Amino acid sequence: MDMEKIVSLCRRRGFLFQSSEIYGGLNGFWDYGPLGVELKRNVKEAWWRDMVSQHDDMSVIPGAPSTYEMTGLDCTIIMHPQVWKCSGHFDLFCDMMQTCRQCKKLVRADHVQDMLNNADWTNSFAAECFVTRPDGGATFDSGAALRWAKHRKFGRRLSPGLALVRNPEVTMSWLAEDVENGTAGELTLSLVLSYMATEQKNQTGLQMPCPHCGGDLTEPREFNLMFESYAGAIKSEDNRVFLRPETAQGIFVNFKNVVDSTRVRIPFGIAQVGKSFRNEITPRNFTFRSREFEQMEIEFFCHPDTSKEWYQYWRDRRFRWYIEHGLAEGRLQLRDHDPDELSHYSTGTADIEYAFPFLADGEFGELEGIAHRGDFDLRSHMEGKLDPKSCPLEVELGEDGKPKYKGSGRDLTYRDDLTNERFTPHVIEPSAGADRATLAFMCEAYTEDEQPDEKGKMQTRTVMKFHPRLAPVKAAVFPLVKKDGMPEVAKDLYKALKAKFPVFYDEKGAVGRRYRRQDEAGTPYCITVDGDTLTDNTVTLRDRDSLEQIRIKLDDVVDEIESRIG
Ligand code: GAP
Repeated sequence: MDMEKIVSLCRRRGFLFQSSEIYGGLNGFWDYGPLGVELKRNVKEAWWRDMVSQHDDMSVIPGAPSTYEMTGLDCTIIMHPQVWKCSGHFDLFCDMMQTCRQCKKLVRADHVQDMLNNADWTNSFAAECFVTRPDGGATFDSGAALRWAKHRKFGRRLSPGLALVRNPEVTMSWLAEDVENGTAGELTLSLVLSYMATEQKNQTGLQMPCPHCGGDLTEPREFNLMFESYAGAIKSEDNRVFLRPETAQGIFVNFKNVVDSTRVRIPFGIAQVGKSFRNEITPRNFTFRSREFEQMEIEFFCHPDTSKEWYQYWRDRRFRWYIEHGLAEGRLQLRDHDPDELSHYSTGTADIEYAFPFLADGEFGELEGIAHRGDFDLRSHMEGKLDPKSCPLEVELGEDGKPKYKGSGRDLTYRDDLTNERFTPHVIEPSAGADRATLAFMCEAYTEDEQPDEKGKMQTRTVMKFHPRLAPVKAAVFPLVKKDGMPEVAKDLYKALKAKFPVFYDEKGAVGRRYRRQDEAGTPYCITVDGDTLTDNTVTLRDRDSLEQIRIKLDDVVDEIESRIG
């Protein structure tokens, strides 16, 4: 499938436009047009209905360890700066970036990752990366390093990597200890970074030219992805605030409020849909990596003893949701992270990935991550950054050797009123991107087939085969001709349908051309009022995908379309 054709259709038919296009656009920002806004709303509404409002907490959910409740929140984009310090984003939500000395452009260091993957570096690299453990053994698995590096963005959540660039010895000793603790994945990547930095300094081995002009790049350096602003008139450090890079933290800091105000009992989930912002160094692939985007996140709070089963449940349930809404199973994969890819607090993470057409054959891009986050977030917001012994990689110590950031000090534990047990809930987090899901549904829907036109000549037809539930416009109504009372009947039908869902009325041009326009918009049903309608009160109902045309009673149209949409 050709991504350029999809992009061009999106623009032509009003699904997506570049933000501020008349001024040349702004990289990483996108506007949804008249069809796009309906499509994305439908994606978000389907998610909210299925996960929250129509989730039936009284029934036994297939595959769930027990019944559960779901509720929602709508939190602010700007939150107290301490939230981001305790969540880890302030220190660790970084990518590595480099600047080209020649063209001065910023480059995300992951293009180096591509080079590492493609380069024949194994021998020299393996020699560099052999590490002696305190017990005298040696550990380094270059295969694991590459596998890990391939699925992660460089530098994300990796302070040791950055520390290593600055001070190799310190991190080497961390490496030895932490390989023993089973977190080799994160550390091997530090070595990749260290190797890059050394090689670059020496100007030998791997060359890392600028992907834009081939010029020399500076050393990789840390770049925090959070957008900053100031709350209040004075631009001082005290007033510095951040646009949220994920909606999840609003849920964690409101956990207690929700429990106290709703009396909801564990297990339960809190859902939130809303904008998130990340100052991505290289936004790309249409809306796939944008700087402003929407997330649909659930934080599901459960007892630690059942958390593994709930993780399994959510991983499978979310995967099925995409298939139920039309993504082909063959283009989807549920990829469990290797143990060496996991964050230290996570006992399981799986990504739901889709074979986006802009990726090479066999490659998949992340749609949603389902993470077992343990009690990491609630504990951080209670206690501040964790004790370095339990959190060796992510804690940053202050001068006094104590955790750098204080938590809220509030009690975010939960007491089960039936058993009287008090515990810190574990959290399963299905975290989806509304824009990525919308993009995947658009890519999946784009179809070209050969169909005869009115004169019987075969023509290529472009059709967006959206699931009817997601289709921006559900039906279109046409009078066959603009006379003999047909427009009046068609307009009455249009009004009756419009009371229920988005409908389009079109009386201009040949009916075949009107069908084609609706095919491109992804409208599942077209209804034509013709001469027979005026005598027998029936209309033609045309199905977008099968092209089947049937006659049905005018009075039955609304119910028929409603039942087909589901
Ligand atoms: N709270 C966990 C979290 O935010 P994440 O994997 O960083 O996890 C979750 O993001 C989802 O948000 C991704 O799977 C993706 O669908 C979407 N997302 C993340 N960054 C994005 C970006 N720059 N542009 C569009 N969508 C993005």
